[in-house]
Amino acid sequence: MVKKAELHVHLEGTATPALVRQMAARNGARIDPATFKSDGEFAWTDFWDFLSCYDKAAAAILTKDDYRTVTFDYLARCAREDAIYVEMFSSPDHAAEVGMSYADHLDGIAAGIDDARTAFGIEGRIIVTCVRHFGPERALNVARKFVATPHDYVVGFGMGGDEAQFHPRDFAPAFNLVRDAGFPTTNHAGEFGGPESIRACLDELPVSRLGHGVRAIEDAELLEELAEKKIPLEMCPGSNVATGLYKSRALHPFKAFMKAGAIVTLNSDDPPFFATSIGHEYTEAARFYGLSEADLTGITRNAIRAAFCSETLKEELL
Ligand code: ADE
Ligand code: ZN
Repeated sequence: MVKKAELHVHLEGTATPALVRQMAARNGARIDPATFKSDGEFAWTDFWDFLSCYDKAAAAILTKDDYRTVTFDYLARCAREDAIYVEMFSSPDHAAEVGMSYADHLDGIAAGIDDARTAFGIEGRIIVTCVRHFGPERALNVARKFVATPHDYVVGFGMGGDEAQFHPRDFAPAFNLVRDAGFPTTNHAGEFGGPESIRACLDELPVSRLGHGVRAIEDAELLEELAEKKIPLEMCPGSNVATGLYKSRALHPFKAFMKAGAIVTLNSDDPPFFATSIGHEYTEAARFYGLSEADLTGITRNAIRAAFCSETLKEELL
């Protein structure tokens, strides 16, 4: 089995509907019934509705121990699919919404990473993430906490959310603060924003990777530049199909990025929302893009080389 590594998955978006219900029950919390469809799966209609459903599901992660459970549960699933390393976005803003401190949030995740390493030998690290549509002030607040509270497992800073809101330059103070503290960053760009959104991100923010970046396919010069500058792309084909960006995996431009010489990785983004997993992304990429085992191993190596963890850990993983 090909070993896998994942760089782009939202921890709050990994909790299955069953786990969300279980955590709500154990905390005596009420979940908005509109979170689920009648078959029990998450209910959402388009990308923006997905973001709102994500918030509702995240609101069931109420304690440090819940974060530990969500992390362990996710890493256990990944380990069963031969993943050896997972970098997880986690959002202190979502934790704060339910009254959890920045430190408790991270300590809960770290305990889950430790549990999973002991049980399965899998490694995990955290990318602290701000949310674009929550606005630049909240992003700067997360960045300030990030630099003031170093944590062994926190390896970088990121931003997800609605790309249509605000401009990357509005987030430069947050990203620059993190960069000046010596940490790498990544940003969702070129998902529901076009190539101009990627260009603006590269011009304004000190990013060393791009979340998605897939819309660079619409601008040949930009695609060439991403390949030339070897900017790793956190590609999420299953997510892009589920949210309606492409009609099918066959129509997703993943293979065109490989052909252009871009540094591509495969990722699940929000697995239970998009009916996927890291293993499924590898299997489907092999099927739809005609990838060999050597190609898939190359993708794993791309991910490990582009990971934000220490060089020592990378050497162990490679
Ligand atoms: N947050 C969680 N998943 C996301 C996605 N696919 N795009 C932007 N923000 C997100
Ligand atoms: Zn994402």
